[in-house]
Amino acid sequence: MAFSLEINDRFASEFADPKVFELLLKESGTALQNLLSGKSPGSEFLGWVKLPQEIQQSELEKIHSEAQRFRKQSETIVVIGIGGSYLGAKAVIEASKPYFKTPSLGSPEIVYAGHHLDARYHSELLEYLENKEFSINVVSKSGTTTEPALAFRLLWDLAKKKYGAKAKDRIVATTDGSKGALRKMSEELGFTTFSIPDNVGGRYSVLTPVGLFPIAAAGVDIFSFCKGFSEAADFLISETSSHKNPACIYSAYRNLFYRSGKKIEVIANYNPSIRTLTEWWKQLFGESEGKQGKGIFPASVELTTDLHSLGQYLQEGERNIFETVLYSKNTGAKVLVPQDGDDLDGLNFLASKNLEEVNLQAFLGTLVAHSEGGIPCLEILFPDTGPNSLGQTMYFFELACGISGNVLGVNPFDQPGVEAYKKNMFALLGKPGFENLRESLRKKGV
Ligand code: PA5
Repeated sequence: MAFSLEINDRFASEFADPKVFELLLKESGTALQNLLSGKSPGSEFLGWVKLPQEIQQSELEKIHSEAQRFRKQSETIVVIGIGGSYLGAKAVIEASKPYFKTPSLGSPEIVYAGHHLDARYHSELLEYLENKEFSINVVSKSGTTTEPALAFRLLWDLAKKKYGAKAKDRIVATTDGSKGALRKMSEELGFTTFSIPDNVGGRYSVLTPVGLFPIAAAGVDIFSFCKGFSEAADFLISETSSHKNPACIYSAYRNLFYRSGKKIEVIANYNPSIRTLTEWWKQLFGESEGKQGKGIFPASVELTTDLHSLGQYLQEGERNIFETVLYSKNTGAKVLVPQDGDDLDGLNFLASKNLEEVNLQAFLGTLVAHSEGGIPCLEILFPDTGPNSLGQTMYFFELACGISGNVLGVNPFDQPGVEAYKKNMFALLGKPGFENLRESLRKKGV
């Protein structure tokens, strides 16, 4: 399949001054060339740019075959990770798998842990797993992040009690190739491991074993996913005209709206299966751009659900928002509205229409309403939610984010702000070495 994602600005261009847009397209084109030549800030983390074209078939096969072994022995696979170490995989799995399916040995469900610290969730998870055949994929690039490390300690303890000496066969660890507590522990305990390339940061890592192993373990075709990535890379990297390059166009609009006071970008979806894709998008853009007192705040809505809540704000609230709709053109489902003799609900005007058509008209009607209400609306349209389309879409967003962050004037590949809460949490929990900070927090009344 050729690159098939489209960006449509029919309800956005009227909000853009053509001269400013032209300038930002130019800046976006330069930013793309800087990314490709490794000249942009954070250049040590640019491994993802050409990864789709460089990834080895043998690596994909190794991941696939290990994932098949995991599937055979599991009714439930727990993916432990936080931020970039789980969102990409969760996004692809939820978008590609059926909404309702009873898991079984050989066709496991995927559940998640280590992405928060809620005691009740972890207690119920441990209880749930007691009677399940389960395996664990623990993912942490640094190998030291508290939330996943703690979840793994809890689940490893359960695995040892349940499976004894064979517990290690139930673990796959994805981490740094040489450093970190998880790497050390994996080597000492004999876990199967996959390494994360040094030059690929968490939120850009879905095409490494971070995303690929859990995606394959869920039964999703990683070869097709990877092909989608490389088709997108082939097109977006070689399209040097920023007027024709959707990643540059998206970056130009984002920066234009931001500079004109629209500080919030709301991503909207009309298919709940891509809800986590929009969560992944929020993490990608939020962590990449929100720094140095700058950056668009990325938010999300699920439509039509949220038209009955946040829809009111979008239509008539403060005009500091622009909207980007992520729309899958074909769900592959045919649900025809039945004719009803009595027509008591008055819906016979919809009889014989596919629900997909009803959803499409809701999308189009909302686009017009929101743009007439003063919200510029960009549309990003992709053919379906299969692995190839998802690969194309994710690469598009990664590249657009790298470009847009450069135009904004930040390093889109670091996240220094994430440390602030960690230090305070360690101090409050009594971690050795944090005594002074603990004292000063206590004086603040915490
Ligand atoms: O994008 C990022 O770099 C972060 O969101 C990380 O993925 C997240 O903090 C988890 O880090 P780690 O994989 O080191 O546990």
